[in-house]
Amino acid sequence: MTATANGTDAARDIVVIEDLHKSFGNVEVLKGIDLAVAAGEAVVIVGSSGSGKSTCLRCINRLEEPTRGRIIVGGQEITGRKVDLNALRRRIGMVFQGINLYPHMTALGNVTLAMRKVAGLSRAEADEKARHYLDLVGLAHKADSYPAQLSGGQQQRVGIARAMALEPQVMLFDEPTSALDPELVGEVLNVMVRTKQLGMTMIVVTHEMQFAREVADRVVFMDGGKVLDVGTPHEILVEPRHQRIRDFINRTRT
Ligand SMILES: Nc1ncnc2c1ncn2[C@@H]1O[C@H](COP(=O)(O)OP(=O)(O)O)[C@@H](O)[C@H]1O
Ligand SMILES: [Mg+2]
Repeated sequence: MTATANGTDAARDIVVIEDLHKSFGNVEVLKGIDLAVAAGEAVVIVGSSGSGKSTCLRCINRLEEPTRGRIIVGGQEITGRKVDLNALRRRIGMVFQGINLYPHMTALGNVTLAMRKVAGLSRAEADEKARHYLDLVGLAHKADSYPAQLSGGQQQRVGIARAMALEPQVMLFDEPTSALDPELVGEVLNVMVRTKQLGMTMIVVTHEMQFAREVADRVVFMDGGKVLDVGTPHEILVEPRHQRIRDFINRTRT
């Protein structure tokens, strides 16, 4: 086993973030993030708007270029210059707040597209796999529906199936339920619970505190571009040590 100085374990950790800094112009929005996520772990990131949660996730799949620091995914440093971004993004699934299916393609078409274009599967292989993942998100019967024929929650579930179908090493979720009508939030959270039960490693940004309390192995509280505290859901969300976190919880109590 190869343990590094900051106590992370390269053999066990799927994602290791070391001293991550990110500036936009002369504004530093990430001020040194350290975080290691173990295989099969669900880490939920919470914190006020503007604290850097999305920027942190976006650095993990290189939608943003870190200004300083290292990120290692599946044992490979992904912050180097020579990284193949297509290969990297195949290993890292991402689901955003906004729903971004192709409107002119069916649910099945949306799920198979990346498998055929990025992973190079044949149509038959891609279709079979896509149906498996649509079934996983409870939408096998909607394979031939177009996005406009699906609710927002169903569309977001197709987005999860699309990401999962590439069998990534880690799934990143950035407020996947924030754009949904309240009655559609639960079905998407239930699918996320299932992905966790399948053993998927997950990093989830959400304001759904009940989900964080019940599903997270650890909760990270971000504040002003730094990690203010990390711990069990109980330590961070139920009996927080920091007044800053107590104030946040009281504002978002659900
Ligand atoms: N592309 C960008 N250019 C300039 N500033 C940005 C950009 N993206 C994010 N920011 C700023 O970085 C800070 C952190 O943003 P973000 O990571 O989106 O926070 P959160 O997801 O926690 O709400 C905010 O002040 C935001 O305005
Ligand atoms: Mg955000």
